[in-house]
Order: sequence, then structure tokens, then C-alpha cells
Amino acid sequence: MNILIVGGGGREHTFAWKIAQSPLCDQLFVAPGNAGTAAIATNLALGVNDFDKLKAAVLTHKIEMVVVGPEDPLVNGIHDYFLADKELEHVAVIGPQKEAARLEGSKEFAKEFMKKQNIPTAQYASFTAETLEEGCNFLAQMKAPYVLKADGLAAGKGVLIIDELEEAQAQLKAMLVDQKFGAASQTVVVEEFLDGIELSCFVLTDGKNFVTLPMAKDYKRIGEGDTGLNTGGMGAISPVPFVTAEFEAKIHERIVVPTIQGFQQQNLPFVGFVFIGLIKVGEDPYVIEYNVRMGDPETEVVLPRVKNDLVELLMATAKGNLDAVTLDVDDRSATTVMLVSGGYPEAYAKGKTMEGLEQETESLLFHAGTQLAENKTVTSGGRVLAVTSYGKDFRVALKQSYSTIEGISFEGMNYRKDLGFDL
Ligand code: AMP
Ligand code: GLY
Repeated sequence: MNILIVGGGGREHTFAWKIAQSPLCDQLFVAPGNAGTAAIATNLALGVNDFDKLKAAVLTHKIEMVVVGPEDPLVNGIHDYFLADKELEHVAVIGPQKEAARLEGSKEFAKEFMKKQNIPTAQYASFTAETLEEGCNFLAQMKAPYVLKADGLAAGKGVLIIDELEEAQAQLKAMLVDQKFGAASQTVVVEEFLDGIELSCFVLTDGKNFVTLPMAKDYKRIGEGDTGLNTGGMGAISPVPFVTAEFEAKIHERIVVPTIQGFQQQNLPFVGFVFIGLIKVGEDPYVIEYNVRMGDPETEVVLPRVKNDLVELLMATAKGNLDAVTLDVDDRSATTVMLVSGGYPEAYAKGKTMEGLEQETESLLFHAGTQLAENKTVTSGGRVLAVTSYGKDFRVALKQSYSTIEGISFEGMNYRKDLGFDL
């Protein structure tokens, strides 16, 4: 079958790399893709939210499966758009429908979902401009640090963690009244602060049956020792060494099973990947957030450890047959180190020529912000290249990634040299 991947980052290059290995895939397209996907698929210069143009491409190229990478088109209803169109209804879309995508699109919706399913998460209350005063009183009753979350999508910037009560109250007002994050902060969720170590759990579901993919841990801060600004992700490892069989069983029983049951009980049509952001507090897992897609850069370590034919898995997902599938996972560890543009996550330059991509290496090079310019690969984003390696443990794998990176360069290149420092 012909397959389209929607998106253009490291996650989508990893999907393309894995799908291209399947004998079930005839022609592979990526919209918009990057220089990495151009080498193994056909890039289509289309925006991820331009549903009409995506439809035209699907019809022209006789595409039968669409795998949606980022959250935006899902929250905007790409799956519903396909279902509502007679010419497209036969196309399998991997990604939840709009109502279910609200689990990522609205923090308040996600908290209500968890409350109904009795899923462990931080205590919370939500507020609007009309209830600002109650919000300030609520904060005064809580202990520092204070966690404020814009309800809607805010490009990963909508969460504030603040030490001082007065500052937290001022920021609550800035979010609700001065629209600090635009419409995304018309509602704000105020949460109890959970102290622990974070990890990511990925589940592929047909809405009823599911398989749990390998767990991963990502590194979000720009600076070594987890300092400085938040980024899209500076690297990841899988598996996560502190996830014992016992802890994994708790995640399964208390979180994964009630989440999938919740899709059924709360009528949320979910065919695709659930990304459960977890925090381990003492010996117990709590949900920090849901995302309705794979993580980036977690995908760059999770998919390389999945030995199954991915197209077979996705077809079973679309058909509701995931109960018949057994996941086959590579025992080795995988790590990825993200090379980023100098200045990122603040202002950075683009168009820098990249060297060393043709080297012989045991690492996998997944392109993120790259494009082709006159037969050269140049940078085109903040996160540029994910260097993934395998090893018997994460330290061996990391050593391989760092060794590969020595042969790669572009002006201003930056990366974290301390991944796994906390393990
Ligand atoms: P979110 O967008 O909900 O994932 O939040 C972004 C980041 O804020 C998370 O990855 C955590 O590091 C942190 N965070 C969110 N909620 C909490 C919480 N209740 N307690 C502690 N840290 C939190
Ligand atoms: N790595 C975090 C995310 O994809 O949201």
C-alpha cells in the first residue's frame, strides 16, 4: 500500500525509516518531510494543517494509510475530516479523532478524564478570568512550588513552576486576564507539585486493544545537569533503567488499563499512539500529561527497539485487531543525542551547511530541522539531527552516539554531553 506520513521532524524521519523497511509499503510519502526523509521517500511540500491539499495528494497518489506525527492536525480534526469525506473514508488514519485529541489539546479535559477513571495524577483546580480571586485563594492554600498550566496548546511553553506565592498569583492573573498565552490560557489548571523523576510511556491502541511500546526518558532542558530553558527535547534513552518489573506492573494496572478503558467508557475514538508523561514519586507512578502522538525525540529510541513490521502493527491498529499482535522488542538499549542550532531554544540561524552525514557509522542519523539546498544538506530548524545508537546498556549506546557526533559538524552546533547523568 501507499503510505503518507504527516510531519517533518526527527519523529517523522524515524517513522519513515521504519515503514520503508516493510514489504507491505509500496510508495512512501512525507508531508512536508526534511532532507532525511527525501532520501527514502517522496517529500510533498504541504502544510500539516492544510487538509484540502493533503486530500488532493492522497487521491493523486492512491494513498491508503496516513500516519499523523504532530498533535496540531489531530487537535484540528484531521481524522474527522477523512471520516466525513466519501472519497477518503477508506483511508486508514493513525491518530485519534478530535474529541479524543482534546486529551492533549486541553489540560482541564485531561484532568477530568483522569478523575473519572481514578488515574493517579496531581490534585488540581481550574480557573478562568471570572474566578481569578478564587484561584489566588486556592494558591494561598497550597504549598510551594506552584504549578500553573495554560489549558490549551502553547507550543510546550504553557506550564509555569513558581516558588513564590505572590509571583504565582501575578502569573495567574497574567495568564487569565492579560492572555499571556493567548486563547490557550483562558482557562488555567493549578496543580499540586509532584517531586520525582519523569519518564514517558507509549501505547499503541485501536481504541480497545493495545500494546505497550518500550518506555523512554527524554531530556528537555537545554543545559547540562537539566538547567536552563525548556526545549523540544535534547535526547532520549530507552529502556529506562529505574523502571523495574514491579514499577511497570503499577503503570500497567493503575494507568494504562484505565486509560484505554476510559476511551471506551467516555466515548473517545482513539486509534493511534498515546504518549503518557509520567512521574515516579517514591515508588508510585503519576500522570503529568497525555499527548496523543509519539514523542520527539523519544520516537528516535522507541521505534528502533521495535522489531515488528510497523506497517503490520499499524494495519492491525486501524482494523481493531491489535489483540492478535505480539510485540517483539530488541533487548539492547537505544539512545539518541539531539544536535541543535546555536542559540536554540531562543533565536538561532538557519541554512548552515552540514558536514559528516555520509560517514560510515553504526549510529542511525534521523534528520529533524534539515533541508536540501543545491545538493547540500543545510540546517532549517532549532533541533537539527538526532544521533541514535544501540548498546548493551545506555552508557555503551551513548558512547557510540558521542563518537559518531565527533564526525559531524555545522556552524554553531550544540548538544548535551551529559545525557543519563541522573541515572
Ligand atoms: P506538561 O506540559 O504538562 O508536560 O508540563 C511540562 C513540564 O512541567 C513537565 O514535563 C514537568 O517537568 C513539569 N510539570 C508539569 N506538571 C507538574 C507537576 N504537577 N509537578 C511537577 N512538575 C510538573
Ligand atoms: N519529548 C516530548 C514531546 O514530544 O512532547
